[in-house]
Amino acid sequence: MHPRRWRWTALLLCIFSFLFYLNYFPLWILPSPPRFPYVQKSCPTTPPHPPLKPPPGRRFNWRDVDTQYPVQKFEQLPRTAVKKELPPVQYDFSVDPPSLYDELMRKRRQAAVKAAFARCWTSYKERAWMKDELQPVSGGSKTTFGGWGATLVDSLDTLWIMNLKEDFEDAVSAVTQINFKPEGEVNMFETTIRYLGGLLAAYDLTDCKDSRLLEKAMELGDMIYASFDTPNRMPVTRWDSVKASKGVKQSPAANGIIAELASFSLEFTRLSQLTGDMRYYDAVARVTSVLEEQQNRTKLPGLWPVGIDTQNLDLTRDNQFSLGAMADSAYEYLGKTYQLLRGVGSASQYKKMYELSMNAVIEHLLFRPMVPDQADILMPTSVRANSASDIRQGDTAQHLACFVGGMLALGGRLFQNKTHVEAGQRVTDACVWTYQNAPHGIMPEMFSMHACPTHSPCPYDASKTFVYPGFASISDARYILRPEAIESVFYMYRITGDTSYQDIAWEMFQAIDSQTRTQYANAAIRDVSTENTERLDSMESFWLAETLKYFYLVFSEPGLVSLDDWVFNTEAHPFRLMG
Ligand SMILES: *[C@@H]1O[C@H](CO)[C@@H](O)[C@H](O)[C@H]1NC(C)=O
Ligand SMILES: *[C@@H]1O[C@H](CO)[C@@H](O)[C@H](O)[C@H]1NC(C)=O
Repeated sequence: MHPRRWRWTALLLCIFSFLFYLNYFPLWILPSPPRFPYVQKSCPTTPPHPPLKPPPGRRFNWRDVDTQYPVQKFEQLPRTAVKKELPPVQYDFSVDPPSLYDELMRKRRQAAVKAAFARCWTSYKERAWMKDELQPVSGGSKTTFGGWGATLVDSLDTLWIMNLKEDFEDAVSAVTQINFKPEGEVNMFETTIRYLGGLLAAYDLTDCKDSRLLEKAMELGDMIYASFDTPNRMPVTRWDSVKASKGVKQSPAANGIIAELASFSLEFTRLSQLTGDMRYYDAVARVTSVLEEQQNRTKLPGLWPVGIDTQNLDLTRDNQFSLGAMADSAYEYLGKTYQLLRGVGSASQYKKMYELSMNAVIEHLLFRPMVPDQADILMPTSVRANSASDIRQGDTAQHLACFVGGMLALGGRLFQNKTHVEAGQRVTDACVWTYQNAPHGIMPEMFSMHACPTHSPCPYDASKTFVYPGFASISDARYILRPEAIESVFYMYRITGDTSYQDIAWEMFQAIDSQTRTQYANAAIRDVSTENTERLDSMESFWLAETLKYFYLVFSEPGLVSLDDWVFNTEAHPFRLMG
């Protein structure tokens, strides 16, 4: 062969093997496999059988990593269509249609929320595209949650709900580029609620038509599932993905956190419903059994302490109980997983755990704050318990715990207990009260209030120390664009139909937007109590994923993402109820 030609042949061979390596021509002689999975007209009403498999791709495939501790028998979801009707959650809005004027107001408010979102989204596109977060003061970007584009994935469903369909299309195209490859230590809780929740909700909103989203959800689901590969099949919640990818054995933490153990149930159950692959459901069913088995054996029966030993499966030792950070969604997911399962099969486990825990919450974890106007409100707090006779309630409140209002109201409707709806209303009203009585109309991150002896009214004792009327002290005066208060306001509006919640929401929105707005977007603020609130260079992805979504939905027609057809995960991602 002529040497010149030989060189060309070698070069071509190199190019082809490189393309082959990149998977551009994997099956270039063989017939190509059908596009994943197939085109669907709507979401499945039963889990697909046989289970869907992701198509071959050139991304890192977590299914190829060897399992160290295989499961013998997988728990299954029922494969028959579910007929059971759950009690209605939403108020019947058809009985009193709004006036023309109210409609006008509602639409103007809704447009203002959408404009705030669009402004942030434009800056994110221009300055932080595919990065985790936009920096709203400097206009830069930062990596905070794995570097897979947290804000991008977290915002997908908000784009859809706000009818920004072109932006949604661009965002989905960008999402297909994400590679969930081994990267270092991963926070599995945040990864699950923000990324997996975001992908599943976006897929559900497209009526399960855009299979690119399910494909991504399965890729990520397989990564998260790999973190359950431990001797007792409990997850490693701060997981070294590089070690795991090399087959290094890992164990769950001896000093774990209850929220991080117990907040996979909604996302993994939905993933199994959509794919028919029962590995995900099996993984959470194992966790649920442990929770159920130990719930009544803790120092405060009905509740699990914040700190737990996942390695030795002991959830009973610690004495700190809370509804705030590190505990929150463990409780939130009980009623919601029941709803996602449509009350059928293992849903009864979740019902039992919901009732046991919420009875304890209402009895021990809520206090009535001493406030000048004697408002009928209840604030969630924490408790230290050493035994049934030694229970000490704290007096701290945190913005994060404001989700409790929505949780109790939703649970009260699902399980038909008026006491829970009323308690949910009083908790929501407590959060609203602190918004309305804080200097700039925004609730601080963490503070304390003086507690009345019981849930009945008590006189305001002005001789006690107060930094502001009603506020005993403020330990963390930031507002970091959190959603929980507006979340509960949204639930109360949809559940009671009381339009005064829309007026409350509008006041909250104006206060927040005016204090947090920057040149590019909206920013966390350092101190809600001083003249100069001072913008911090941070906009967590939940601002677009949750806070603005709930504001938008409070001002939407109540049929948009109805609570009778959808259940929200703890990052405000709505999953479609089957059937
Ligand atoms: C939980 O324990 C209490 C006693 O501590 C008992 O009265 C109650 O029946 C138990 N509940 C369940 C569901 O096991
Ligand atoms: C409703 O909830 C309250 C407070 O948790 C509880 O005491 C009561 O037994 C519940 N009622 C029903 C019918 O379950």
